[in-house]
Amino acid sequence: MPKIKIDGGHELSGTITISGAKNSVVALIPAAILCDETVTISNVPNITDVDDLENILVHLNAKITRSPGKVEINSSDIINKEITETLSKKLRASYYFMGALLGKFNKVDMYFPGGCSIGARPINLHLKGFELLGAKITEEENHFIIEAEKLRGNNIYLDFPSVGATINIMLAAVKARGKTVIDNAAQEPEIVNIATFLNNMGAKIRGAGTSTITIIGVKYLHSCFHEVIPDRIEAGTYLVIASLLGQELKIDNMIPSHLEALIAKLTEAGVEMDIGLDNIVIHEPKDYHGIDIKTLVYPGFATDLQQIMAPFLTQCKGRSTIEETIYENRFQNLPELDKMGANTQIRKDNRKATIRGKTPLKGTEVTATDLRGGASLLVAALIAEGVTTIDNISYILRGYDQIVEKLTAVGAKIEII
Ligand code: UD1
Repeated sequence: MPKIKIDGGHELSGTITISGAKNSVVALIPAAILCDETVTISNVPNITDVDDLENILVHLNAKITRSPGKVEINSSDIINKEITETLSKKLRASYYFMGALLGKFNKVDMYFPGGCSIGARPINLHLKGFELLGAKITEEENHFIIEAEKLRGNNIYLDFPSVGATINIMLAAVKARGKTVIDNAAQEPEIVNIATFLNNMGAKIRGAGTSTITIIGVKYLHSCFHEVIPDRIEAGTYLVIASLLGQELKIDNMIPSHLEALIAKLTEAGVEMDIGLDNIVIHEPKDYHGIDIKTLVYPGFATDLQQIMAPFLTQCKGRSTIEETIYENRFQNLPELDKMGANTQIRKDNRKATIRGKTPLKGTEVTATDLRGGASLLVAALIAEGVTTIDNISYILRGYDQIVEKLTAVGAKIEII
């Protein structure tokens, strides 16, 4: 099994260019099958989640052509058959085929999705939405058949503004008869990106990016060209790295307004940065002090970035806390950071952690337990003294495009062994 080996403590300078957003592209690719013609998606990151979605498209007999940074998808000859358990379980985002196939064929047959074990992650809100659109759900263990004679628009209130449920219901509703209104919808930038893609095909979606999304069903979706937005979590990861090691390090091709909560918290800790239109430059690290972080839905502090902040907080003087309100099991990276010399405590209910700093970190052998937890270890390894090897790196490669190349280019000593 490959591992990542990092010789830490090297300053980083130059430019890191941010790739297309993982959480956007993993919904755009399933959404593409709703199109009645060919669609082209650009700024596609080279991550294994995209490979896994390609395998599902091939299994369904869709035509997908990939070239660097681009995919073309034509679903004219798609065969709506069961998506096997192995394919469904490869990634979380396989569940977007539920909304997309239901929207296109009024039927989908697949299994419970995979993804990082960071909490229970039920899909009850997705299913509730499908039912309100007129679908019948047959669920046996982790196998789902969801079908409808006809999908009809309805008013759907989400008990929680779930990203996945909001997108999945949009996908199912886009060709349904009449008007669907999603209330308490998630407002993440990725949702706006998916809605824009569907609108570019001729869909009628209004209000994406607010808590009320209205969808008027249409019969036909035509060809379009669409660009994936920059990955705010990747940009946030490199911004944290730059805060710790950057010497004139520029994070480029990003949207700073998507990262307001992170920028506010880094600034509170003492980070100084120059924010441009589509980039942020960190001139040099400063002395930092402890801060409190609480994860919330967008535009609050992203849960995907709290794990990345943990190694940063080990370098802040005093006591810091992280409160995780979205997932039940998102501190698995902390015991691994402790192996490197961090001083962390997790509250018994697993919802709050305390990090005391500043503690020097030392290279050792650690294991990634999930995607962002793995990235958290990678940040720690970059600042640690000596060599760190990170095991289970397939988690990291699922979400970070060319991470080894990008860090090497700015001066990190990092390799896959
Ligand atoms: C997406 C992102 C993930 C990010 C998360 C929150 C993708 C592929 N993944 O995940 O990186 O961490 O948003 O920003 O885009 N919930 C329910 N019932 C449901 C659906 C969700 O109870 O039917 C709960 C979940 O268990 C969780 C919370 O709602 O506690 C948030 O989940 P959700 O927003 O749906 O996250 P994902 O779409 O899975």
